[in-house]
Amino acid sequence: MSAEARYPKIVVTPPGPKARDLIRGDESCISKSVVRWYPLVAESGSGCIVRDVDGNEYIDFNSGLGVLNVGHCHPKVVTAITEQAKKLIHYSYTDFYYQAMVDLGQELTKIIPGSFSKRVFFCNSGAEAVEAAMKMSKWHTRNSLFLAFSGAFHGRTLGAVSLTASKPVQRRHFFPVVPGVTHVPYPYCYRCPFHLSYPECHLWCADFIEEEVLGKYIPTENVAAMFVEAVQGEGGYIVPPNDYFPRLRKILDKHDLVMVDDEVQSGVGRTGKWFAIEHFNVVPEAVCVAKAVGSGLPVGALVSNEELMDWEGGSHATTFGGNPVACAAGLAVIDTIREQKLLENATKQGAYVLNRLREMQSRFEIIGDVRGKGLMVGAEIVKDPDTKEPGSELAQDIMTKCFKRGLAIITAGKSTMRFAPPLIISHELLHAGLDVFEGVVKEVARSAK
Ligand SMILES: Cc1ncc(COP(=O)(O)O)c(C=O)c1O
Repeated sequence: MSAEARYPKIVVTPPGPKARDLIRGDESCISKSVVRWYPLVAESGSGCIVRDVDGNEYIDFNSGLGVLNVGHCHPKVVTAITEQAKKLIHYSYTDFYYQAMVDLGQELTKIIPGSFSKRVFFCNSGAEAVEAAMKMSKWHTRNSLFLAFSGAFHGRTLGAVSLTASKPVQRRHFFPVVPGVTHVPYPYCYRCPFHLSYPECHLWCADFIEEEVLGKYIPTENVAAMFVEAVQGEGGYIVPPNDYFPRLRKILDKHDLVMVDDEVQSGVGRTGKWFAIEHFNVVPEAVCVAKAVGSGLPVGALVSNEELMDWEGGSHATTFGGNPVACAAGLAVIDTIREQKLLENATKQGAYVLNRLREMQSRFEIIGDVRGKGLMVGAEIVKDPDTKEPGSELAQDIMTKCFKRGLAIITAGKSTMRFAPPLIISHELLHAGLDVFEGVVKEVARSAK
């Protein structure tokens, strides 16, 4: 029996006594704006396993919200962090210079799509990378309007949340947000906003942007940029048809509009390519990255076509962006993805996840749709496969039961289970995690009848 065969391991029904104690402390002081998926109180992690304070060991299908693509505490990342911390922890790159930031900047310009010259603006999070992209595209074009997708999630700062259109709670009582954003339907074929079917629709959702939005009420010469997610993340792990982004690119080119690709969740190998947009052979002018690039240390980056990043000195900066320790972690992440051939592993294991979920879909009616690229896979839970009514409570139930049995998995959109384990995951561990999921789905499906 291999060492991995012992996972997951539940020694006390979670939340155990230590977890409950810590949660009481949390409830006494932490902001009420944050909501937890379930009471997982993490103490340590290694590889694809996260341990709680009571000794339970979970297979991690969350990767810490899409951050731990090379797994928990990868030894190479830990060494890079430790070595860098002994030398220099901070010296504000927007005011001075140091090596790790230049090295990571150069690596990012190599892996981001596009053969043109690029420049990098470092920051600390996904939302900050999006803010930077909004400001940069405004500065360069002198325009103030943006296009974004319905269902999009681009972050929660006031600029980013003006692009976000995933759940009303994210925007309630925060208006006015940044004005001038128009949301257009995402190519969500399972729930087509126009009630059409692909391919007979001839991608009306793309042509709609040109014919209705740009043609009737958004003057193209006032648009600073369109923000896209190549695979929609928080909105429900939604994969557009292969010809959607090439069509959209054509429309944007025709009207001389900038495409900003938010790869905060889908990037850094998650989908089996460095960036999800590569699946569609489309090159954006600018890309936002964060999450997995620092493997848990805060680092975000806007990487843009050099021509676009022509803003003047002093127009945008940040004290902590491009922190040397975070950049050292980022370099170790990129090296590890190359050395351990993690793009290949994500592709291979992702195909296995899709196959298993499709097989389950044929047996359990509550799995309405299965979709994904690499290890960014979603299974949408429905009350009824014919009406497609979202099974939000069912998904919630599946998630909680999985947790109790040692599988850390969360939802996206209204009722999509997201499968996003670290890219290092072995077939054996994936199999074990999917077995837990299948057992739970069987039980929930039976009780839903
Ligand atoms: C696509 C996308 N963009 C931006 C963000 C915001 O990133 P952060 O939470 O680091 O601000 C997220 C977070 O989930 C995301 O998924």
